Amino acid sequence: MNILVTGALGYIGSNTTIKLIESGYKLYLLDNLHNSSIDTLNKIEKITKKKQTFIEADIRDHNEINNILKKYKIETIFHFAGLKSVKESENSPEKYFEVNFEGSKNLIDGLNLQKIKKKIFIFSSSACVYGNPKKLPYKEDHPLSPENAYGKTKLKVELYLKQTSLSNTNWQAIALRYFNPIGAHSSGFLGDNPLNDTPENLMPYISRVALGKLTHLEIFGSDYDTNDGTPVRDYIHIEDLAEGHLAAFNFLKNKKNDVYEEINLGKGKGYSVLELVETFQKINKINIPYEFSKRRLGDISKYYADVEKSKNLLGWKTKKTLEEMCKSSWEFEKKLKENE
Ligand code: NAD
Ligand code: UFG
Repeated sequence: MNILVTGALGYIGSNTTIKLIESGYKLYLLDNLHNSSIDTLNKIEKITKKKQTFIEADIRDHNEINNILKKYKIETIFHFAGLKSVKESENSPEKYFEVNFEGSKNLIDGLNLQKIKKKIFIFSSSACVYGNPKKLPYKEDHPLSPENAYGKTKLKVELYLKQTSLSNTNWQAIALRYFNPIGAHSSGFLGDNPLNDTPENLMPYISRVALGKLTHLEIFGSDYDTNDGTPVRDYIHIEDLAEGHLAAFNFLKNKKNDVYEEINLGKGKGYSVLELVETFQKINKINIPYEFSKRRLGDISKYYADVEKSKNLLGWKTKKTLEEMCKSSWEFEKKLKENE
């Protein structure tokens, strides 16, 4: 089976790539290195002890994507490539539309043209397609109303994937709605390492405060309607998330009929920002200075996943604890520092 992984050198792509290689699959790894480094390819090869085929390409390049799909006779696509900053998406919505929507459309249309018996597409969607919660936990049939440009691109891809897969034959597609992935691979080599100096997401920020690269964490808001006033999210260990992709792939491979599904990948449990910070401090025995500041624009008070569908359909659920997430994030950050 010829499998293309886009965004393969990114945080989630690289961790899933490892699981796929360890399960015996031969992959074609594609990335344009916009938010990753070629060094991640070396790390993947070191961990798996297998040489990989890497294609440096941009998913926006329609002709090149078609050529790649034809040349390597691609039958399955794990599609991770994309831009993921909520803030940047609000400032540059056109760029997000081009990369996240048009880039995805190139891959979906290209796969649709392939003359093969089974077309499998697994898409990295996001919990942010739901928007303000009408009811928690978010079930997959919760109304969809993303609050920001990033979320809107994810929803648009879901709808295009659904329409293409349902109006053509031989399609099996899943949009996986990730909650908040944190943590790192057990080797300590593959984690969330945003290229910007001041990370936008909570865990990379905490890790850099722990290293002393940033003086303190700002907690955005202490007056939310939650137990301790700080926002609640459903954090999921990156290795659990990577295994969720394998479960989704196995589910599709075993199906004879055409399929389109949207499935949450989360732990099904919410933790507040303060709980996460306290767990990080306790498990890693390190102090994280923090200050409360005003709410971040667009943040939702509280959300977490309904995990029944992933359990019933994929036979998958998370195994790792918040402690393990905090420990592995810190191990990764320390290793990065050692290798600087
Ligand atoms: P990441 O930035 O670490 O990885 C994305 C990869 O895609 C990077 O290696 C980047 O270089 C590559 N890329 C970007 N633009 C490209 C293009 N035009 N052509 C080819 N490659 C390109 O991000 P991640 O956290 O690994 O996220 C992977 C996917 O999951 C993204 O689509 C993201 O939107 C989605 N997602 C992430 C989160 C999260 O919190 N990390 C949550 C929900 C959904
Ligand atoms: N936070 C802080 N200080 C920081 C960074 C974050 O207090 O320096 C808080 C935020 O206010 C939020 C929580 O930590 O309450 C988590 O924030 P993140 O930025 O880590 O994550 P978000 O929940 O905002 O969103 C993330 C990704 C999205 C994705 C979504 C899916 O950024 O791409 O998870 O649930 F869609």
